Amino acid sequence: MFKSCVAVLVAALCGLTAPANAAEGEPFVIKFAHVVADDTPKGKGALLFQKLVHERLAGKVKVEVYPNSTLVGDADEMQALLDGRVQMLAPSLSKFGKYTRKLQVFDLPFLFDDQDAVQRFQKREMSRELLRSMADSGIYGLDYWNNGLKQLSATQALRTPDDAAGLAFRIQPSAVLEAQFEAVGAKPVVLPFAEVYSALKKGEVQGAENPWSNIASQNMHTVQPFITESNHGVLNYMLVTSSKFWMSMPFAVRSELEGIVLEVTQAVNKEAAALNQRDRDRILASGSSKLITLTPEQRQAWREKMMPVWQRYEADIGADVIRAALTVNRKH
Ligand code: LMR
Repeated sequence: MFKSCVAVLVAALCGLTAPANAAEGEPFVIKFAHVVADDTPKGKGALLFQKLVHERLAGKVKVEVYPNSTLVGDADEMQALLDGRVQMLAPSLSKFGKYTRKLQVFDLPFLFDDQDAVQRFQKREMSRELLRSMADSGIYGLDYWNNGLKQLSATQALRTPDDAAGLAFRIQPSAVLEAQFEAVGAKPVVLPFAEVYSALKKGEVQGAENPWSNIASQNMHTVQPFITESNHGVLNYMLVTSSKFWMSMPFAVRSELEGIVLEVTQAVNKEAAALNQRDRDRILASGSSKLITLTPEQRQAWREKMMPVWQRYEADIGADVIRAALTVNRKH
């Protein structure tokens, strides 16, 4: 009896520590899926990760990159991670609402002065804790990857908040983003990223919010004649894996991978602003969209209309998290 219990226990423990992708001597396969194009901050980050892993861990770990929602998309990528169908993702911070509300601090409109402030926050203790905020669901946050600040694109010029009233805007699945558009009398419509271009083209929605790199790489500017440089919110990512998969690898392999993640994070976060600037220039040079630059008074009007959202979501996100985020703005 005792012997069989020990056998069961050993088998169970072995099961816990055995490689998820198993066969002895075979490399661990990391399927890294994402929804954007290769030539974007996240797309380039995924490819650099693949390259460095190939250089340093050949035979032990193999990375396969699936861009543009080709393997899994917004609707099922998190479940795919938990089911072991993919091993790495970098969803926008707006897409984790089902697992934690705390990350929606990044969605609060006009919270951060600029992307440098966001970057400072991502290095603070609070953000490091947020990487572990989904541990109970088996999601393991590795680091934050930058994209950029969001701009408002539309079929008509958006200068004042009233200009947005009555228009349908595509949003990511976030209660905060929904409230943000409702605050200006617009109609938020949740759609997966892969469907945004076609929804804009068909006129199912009239506007969207994205950093320049996403607008350009999906050709959204060709169906959005006006882009307001609002910089009203953040679109950054959390690089995630599943705790089960990550812990199934030997410590030495994990450590090497964590070193690579750090290196790639630094590269992505250094290059993201330049890529967005390049894509801003390309869009404006194409002449397809008119740039709307807000006066300080106009920007303040958007801010005032949208800011009540902070208070509405304070209890969900946590006042401590919001306070910690605010401290990174120089003026506070
Ligand atoms: C979006 O859905 O607009 C973004 O999250 C896409 C992305 O990954 O940048």
